Amino acid sequence: MRKKAILITGASGEVGHALVKQLSQSGNHLLLTLDLQPLPPEIQGLSTHVQGDLLDTHLLARLVSEFDIEVIYHLAALLSTRSEVTPEMAHQINVEGTLGLLRLATEQSQWRNRSIQFIFPSSIAIYGMPDRESKQLYQRVREFEWNQPRTMYGCNKLYCEMLGIYYSRHYRQLAAQQPVTIDFRCVRFPGLISAFTLPSGGTSDYGPEMIHAAAKGEPYACFVRPEARIPFMAMPDAVHALLQLGQAPRERLTRLVYNVTSFSLSAGQIRERVLQAFPDAQITFAPDPKREAIIDSWPADLDDSAARVDWGWQPQYDVDRAFQEYLFPNIQARYRRSPQGGGN
Ligand code: SER
Repeated sequence: MRKKAILITGASGEVGHALVKQLSQSGNHLLLTLDLQPLPPEIQGLSTHVQGDLLDTHLLARLVSEFDIEVIYHLAALLSTRSEVTPEMAHQINVEGTLGLLRLATEQSQWRNRSIQFIFPSSIAIYGMPDRESKQLYQRVREFEWNQPRTMYGCNKLYCEMLGIYYSRHYRQLAAQQPVTIDFRCVRFPGLISAFTLPSGGTSDYGPEMIHAAAKGEPYACFVRPEARIPFMAMPDAVHALLQLGQAPRERLTRLVYNVTSFSLSAGQIRERVLQAFPDAQITFAPDPKREAIIDSWPADLDDSAARVDWGWQPQYDVDRAFQEYLFPNIQARYRRSPQGGGN
């Protein structure tokens, strides 16, 4: 008999790292992880790990022959800055990889006559504010506003949201008998900050990079100007959002794609907070106009009221708690350098 499993793609990445840790604590399910890379040492042994390519259809076929996959967290993606370096490859991984998995989930749902849950993280990158004035004027953006991304990653995520909705609600809509479809659910994340991992290839990376560099005692030149602002969230809240959305009764969901966020800070405000904990941190600003233009196209804040109303979303880490209770102490422990002042 096939073993029941939760599949996590991109498990070696930042969100995967935190999600695998969290899910392994609840212990009800076998965790099946898939990534091109080996798992980081801290989460090795918590899952059955398959090192392989999401685009390898033979590999996926083998996985469904061995495992009865009930839930998929599809985290694998190339982030926004990295995607601008190799846009076509980004499309392959971000879109074709997602399409293959949606198809697999659909086939499996039909085969078992029960919907597979497909949880998908999308991103603030699906927004595209046309200029700084609009960004200033329209601060908290709702799900359906300003959906004109200017990055390949943003285009990929927006399209995959739509594919997920299609496979969930309209798949083979002309067939005489409506087939069983997947249960697709998606959260749009702001910039994420983890105390335990560093992002690679994102454009919101200046936030986490600034904090980690200060804790390591290394100088950091921030690639956006001090006034540049986007919303952020601490990693435990990102995991909490994925799990909470997955647990919500389906009939409560008035949409399949939800904004979630916690706090909005400018780069200068992040620097001020970091200096409270690490007064000798050397943080300067050396804006890269091209990367900064991407940040300028993302909204200053997200309206996450739909998630709050429909499934009770609320971040557990507001800005003070995120920095004082989660980021500073954990990063301090990680690099063994004492924050002076602000840390608790
Ligand atoms: N953190 C992502 C990036 O910068 C945005 O979702 O690409």
